[in-house]
Amino acid sequence: MGSSPDNRQPRFKGLPAESLNLLQLTDSHLYADPSRCLLGINTLETFDQVLAQALQEAGHPDFILATGDLVHDASDTGYKRLLGRLQLTEIPTYCLPGNHDLPGKMKQILNQDNVHCIPSVQAKGWSLIFLDSTIPNSDGGRIDEGQLGLLKVLLEAHNDKHTMVCMHHHPIPVGSRWMDTMVLDNPGEFFQLIEAHPQVKAVLCGHIHQTFDSMYKGIRLIGSPSTCVQFVPEEDDFAIDAAPPGYRWLSLQADGTIETGLASLPEIPSGLDLASMGY
Ligand SMILES: [Fe+2]
Repeated sequence: MGSSPDNRQPRFKGLPAESLNLLQLTDSHLYADPSRCLLGINTLETFDQVLAQALQEAGHPDFILATGDLVHDASDTGYKRLLGRLQLTEIPTYCLPGNHDLPGKMKQILNQDNVHCIPSVQAKGWSLIFLDSTIPNSDGGRIDEGQLGLLKVLLEAHNDKHTMVCMHHHPIPVGSRWMDTMVLDNPGEFFQLIEAHPQVKAVLCGHIHQTFDSMYKGIRLIGSPSTCVQFVPEEDDFAIDAAPPGYRWLSLQADGTIETGLASLPEIPSGLDLASMGY
């Protein structure tokens, strides 16, 4: 639904001018050491390639969304390097943390100039809400009491706007046993709040390193490939997919509908360790 094959056509061209156009870059897994690899892939190189390709082929987005696992070793140097890349785009960028990030440090370093680590932004009739779904010292996800409270306040404050909620963890299982051990552990509380606010059109996540696009309780749930390594969908055990790094574009329409699709680098980076049993 809504996804398009990889091609070189501009993504935002031809869409209504009032559309809110977004690029989602997720799970970049950068390191302090720019030469370090994850499962055989230099994550800084693929991030740079995906970002350059996205800006060239998708057209100028209103915002970039960076949905967690931004720096694999949560290093100062890694965040500073990412900040430099994002500052160069001059595009307002909204970052939220994943299980590999340190939320406090991430905010301290990234939240400046055009780069923001804030709970929400409103533009073109839409409200985007950015939640922290991380649990300290765990790879699992949870929208804790504080984040649930924040979500409620933001939903009530902007109930006249179409809304997309963004967070790192997937809110419902995606059909992959090992990945689903890290699914949001309190979906009941989360969806109870979401369902009480019909302006919520979608929930966008990272974390799963694969595409996901499904309807649940009338809400569209969207997940996306990483800018580095992809995982095989619907696989019980950890498995690396022979798929290139990629990104998602989204165009949020004035009527509350969402146009979206994926694009990826033309080739799988050499060195990808397809036989790896974990990371
Ligand atoms: Fe990740």
